[in-house]
Amino acid sequence: MMVMLPCLVLALLCLLRAEAEIPVQPDFDTEKFAGTWYVVATASNCSVFLKMKDGMKSSIATISFTPEGNLAMNLAWPMLDKCQKFELLFQRSGQAGHYMAAQEKREICVMKTDYSHYAIMHQLQHNEQGTSVVLQLLMREQDLSAELLQNFKELLPSVGLTQDMLTIMLKSDQCTKATR
Ligand SMILES: *[C@@H]1O[C@H](CO)[C@@H](O)[C@H](O)[C@H]1NC(C)=O
Repeated sequence: MMVMLPCLVLALLCLLRAEAEIPVQPDFDTEKFAGTWYVVATASNCSVFLKMKDGMKSSIATISFTPEGNLAMNLAWPMLDKCQKFELLFQRSGQAGHYMAAQEKREICVMKTDYSHYAIMHQLQHNEQGTSVVLQLLMREQDLSAELLQNFKELLPSVGLTQDMLTIMLKSDQCTKATR
């Protein structure tokens, strides 16, 4: 028993660490990351998302950064027959590439990006039901590349998600018309 206990504690600490440490794109460059992104695929274990994920349309995120390094996102989301718009502001949290929204209810982190084609964004959303994980594949173009989708799928288990939680967003021009 005396020997078992420290092992258990250690195992628990490892679990906690694994959950907290999501890798952030090294040398994250805000200037290169700013601009328009299409959300082409999303995976999440949020129960609301899982109920409505089929038939979701691709949203457009226009990202800019304040002089303090905070991230501002204008989200245009085709919903019912309209283009719904949301403005979100995330405060930089520690290193660039990691941000937190008001009341720390939402945390986002840019795990990987090549700036010109794709980005993988990890989100934690804290609400009454607990914490849900959201992983999104963002692209500069609305056309999804099979190779990027494959890489995205391979990342899911590392953030605690499974393939059945994934949805490819349907292409839509509802919001492109409105933003151009
Ligand atoms: C979602 O997955 C994360 C990581 O595995 C877990 O901590 C969380 O409790 C899950 N949330 C729900 C709503 O299942």
